[in-house]
Amino acid sequence: MRKNNWAMALALAVLLPLTARADEGMWLPLFVKRLNHADMQKKGLKLTAEEIYDINNASLKDAVVQLGGFCTGEFVSSQGLLLTNHHCGYDAIQSHSTPQNNILQNGFFAATKAEEKKNPGLFVDILVRMEDVTGKVLEGITPATPEQERMATVQKRQKELADAAKENGQYVAYVRDMFGGNEYYLFVYQRFGDVRLVGAPPEAVGKFGGDTDNWMWPRHTGDFSMFRVYADKNNKPTATPQDGNVPYVPKKHLPVSLQGVSEGDFAMVFGFPGRTQRFLPAAGLQLTLDQTNPARIKLRDTRLKLWKEDMDRDPALRLKYASKYASIANYWKYFIGQNEGMKRLKTVEAKQAEEKALADWIAQDPARQQQYGEALSTINQAYAGIRQYNLSVQYINEGAFGTEIITLASRLMPLYMALKATPADKAAIQKAAADLKEPVAEHFKDYSAPTDKKVFAALMSLYQQDVPKDQLPDVFQTVQKQYGGSMQKYADYVFSTSFLTSQAKTDAFLAAPTLAKLEADPAFKTMNSVYTSFTQNILPTMQGLQAGLGRANRLYVAALREKNAQKVYSPDANSTIRLSYGTVRPYRGRDAVSYDYKTTAQGILEKEDPSNPEFVVPQKELALLKQKDYGRFADKNGNLPVAFITDNDITGGNSGSPVINGRGELIGVAFDGNWEAMTGDLAYDPELKRCINADIRYVLWCVEKLGGAKHLVDEMTIVNNGPNPGVGPQTSASAAAELGDVEKMKVKTDKGGKTKIKRKKEDAAAGM
Ligand code: ARG
Repeated sequence: MRKNNWAMALALAVLLPLTARADEGMWLPLFVKRLNHADMQKKGLKLTAEEIYDINNASLKDAVVQLGGFCTGEFVSSQGLLLTNHHCGYDAIQSHSTPQNNILQNGFFAATKAEEKKNPGLFVDILVRMEDVTGKVLEGITPATPEQERMATVQKRQKELADAAKENGQYVAYVRDMFGGNEYYLFVYQRFGDVRLVGAPPEAVGKFGGDTDNWMWPRHTGDFSMFRVYADKNNKPTATPQDGNVPYVPKKHLPVSLQGVSEGDFAMVFGFPGRTQRFLPAAGLQLTLDQTNPARIKLRDTRLKLWKEDMDRDPALRLKYASKYASIANYWKYFIGQNEGMKRLKTVEAKQAEEKALADWIAQDPARQQQYGEALSTINQAYAGIRQYNLSVQYINEGAFGTEIITLASRLMPLYMALKATPADKAAIQKAAADLKEPVAEHFKDYSAPTDKKVFAALMSLYQQDVPKDQLPDVFQTVQKQYGGSMQKYADYVFSTSFLTSQAKTDAFLAAPTLAKLEADPAFKTMNSVYTSFTQNILPTMQGLQAGLGRANRLYVAALREKNAQKVYSPDANSTIRLSYGTVRPYRGRDAVSYDYKTTAQGILEKEDPSNPEFVVPQKELALLKQKDYGRFADKNGNLPVAFITDNDITGGNSGSPVINGRGELIGVAFDGNWEAMTGDLAYDPELKRCINADIRYVLWCVEKLGGAKHLVDEMTIVNNGPNPGVGPQTSASAAAELGDVEKMKVKTDKGGKTKIKRKKEDAAAGM
C-alpha cells in the first residue's frame, strides 16, 4: 500500500512536475478565513485572517483603494500617499502636460505638497464593509418564479439595500451579483473626490517598451505613479478637490520591504479586478473568437493607424491623443492575444468537453434534469440568435462610436429629449445644456477634428461594408443617394457643417439650443440614425435573448458548482475588491523557452534603442545605470531589480495593486499579465498565467535616484525584517504542495533540474 502510494506519488511528480495546486481565484476578502487562510499559510503567509480583512480594526484592506473606478492603488504613508501604475495615472499626467511643460515626457515629482496637482473628477473608493445579502435579495424567489418577475424583484431589492447602506449620502454603496446571479453582495465605500498627482517617472520609464512589450514578459517598465488622497480637516471625504483640504490619514498604510523577492516567496495581491468570464459557455467563447474579437481588432487597427499618422506629424496632437491611443491600443493587443491564445490552448474545445460532461451528469438524474435540463440548450440557442446581431453591436460600439464626434453627439441625447418634450420645460432644457458644459470642454481639450474626420470616413465605410445589409441604419442610404456612396464626401459634408467640430460652435449652440438646430446637425443626425436603428431593430431582440441567457447561465453555473462540489470556485471578477495569492514563480512559455522570474536594469540597457521611441532610455537614467548607481536598492548580487512575476490570478482593474509578502509588507506593484496567458480572463491556466509586477526597489530608485524625490521615500515606512516567507523554488514547492498533503513526501530539485522525491525521514521512521 505505502509502496504503491510512493510509486503513485513518484508517477504524479514525473507527470506533473510543475502542477501546483492551481492558484486560480480572485477571492472575496470576506471569506478569506474560511476558504483560503490555511492554504495561504502553507504558502508562507504569516498574518492572521483578521490582519487581512476586519471591519472593526485596521487591516490590510484599509490600505487598498479603487482608483477612479478603473484601477487599484495602495497607501504607502500615513499622509495618504498613494502608489499606483503609470498607466493608471496616465490620463491625469497627460492632462497636466503641455508642449511647453511636458511632464508626461519629462516626469514630475512635487517638491512640496503645494505643488501636488488637483484632478477634478478623479476619486478613490475605500471599502468600509461588505456583506453577503443573497438571502435578502432572493427571499421568496423560487425556481418557479417567472424570469421577468425575478429580475424586477432582484433589481428593486438591490437598490433598496444599497440605498439603506448609503446612510444619507455618507457612503457609496452597491449590490453586485456573483456566480451568474446565484449570490449577491453589498459593498459599502467611502469616496474621496480630492486625489492629487504627486509624481510620475518620464513616460520613457513608466511606459518603457510601449505597445511592443505590453502584455509581455520579460518586462523592464517602471509602470508606477503617485497620488495623494486629501480629506477635510476631520479626515472626512470631500466630493471635489478643495483648497482647505489636508492629506488623508489612512487607517492603514503598507510598510515597504527592500529585502527583495526570491523564487517561491509568498505573494498576495489585493485589488479591484474588472471583469473575467470564466463561466462563459463554449458558444460564447466561440462568438468571441470568430466574430467579436476579429471585428474589434479590425476597427481598432484602422483607428489606431489613422491616429498615429497624425500623432507622428504633430507633437501637440501626439500629446492630446496619447492617453486615448494608449487605452485603445492596450485592448487592441489584448484581443489579438486572447484570440491567439484561444486557438493555441484550445479554449473552446476544453469548454465544450466540460459542457458535455456536465450534460451527461445532468442527464443521469431526473431531479437534475428537472432543475438544470434546459440550461445548455437555451444557452446554445441564445448564442445562435445573438450571433445574428452581434456584428451590428460591435460595429456600433467600436465603429460608429469609435468616432469621437459621434460619441460627443450621443452625449447630447438628454438635451435632445428635453427639447422634444411637450409641454416644453425651459428649466429642464437649461439644466441639460448646463450639464454638457464640462464634458464638452473635456472633449475639445484633446480633440482634432481633421483627425477624427479621417477616422469617421474609415470606420463608417467598414460599418457599411461588414454589417448585414438589412441591419444598416438609414444614414447609409443617405450616403448612397446623396453622396454617390462616397463616405469620404459624406465625411466632408458632416465635418464642414456640424457644430460639433469645435468648442466655440458647440458652446454657441448650448447657449441657445433649439430642436430644429439639433435635428439638422449632420453629426447628430448620423448618431441618431445609428442609435434609432439599434433601439428599434436590434435591442428588443437582443434583450429577449439576454434575458433567456441570464436565466440559463445562472442554472449552468449552479449545476457546475453542484457537480464539482469538491472544488471551491471564486466568483468572476466584477470590479469588487478581491484577494489573490500565490508565489513568485518562473514559467515555461513554450517548447524550449523558459522565463526567469525577475528582470534587472541590465535588461533596460539591452533593450535601449535611441532610434525607437518605445525603447528610448532617458539620458539621466542611462548615466545612472551605466555608473551602476543603485544605492540601497541593489539586490544581493549588486544588480538593480526591475520587475518580477508571480502566479497571482489578476486581471485589468488590478493595475496598480500592491504585491504583498507573507508579513504584510509591500514588495511590488502589479501592472500586467503575460502573452502566453492572454486567455486568462476566460480560462485560468496555472502553468502559464503570470502577474507582472514592478519591483518596489525599482520604483523607489526611480523616485529617489532618478526623480530626486527622496522626501517621498522618507514618508514611507521602510522595514527590514529579513527575507520573505515562502515555500522556495517552485519545482519542489508545487510538487510538495500537491503531494505533501496526500503522501507526506519531500520533493527536491537537484542541480540538473530534475525532480527527486524523498520520503521524509520521520515519515519513513513512522512506517508510513
Ligand atoms: N496591459 C496593461 C494593462 O492592461 C497596460 C499597460 C499599459 N502600457 C501600454 N504600453 N499600453 O493593465
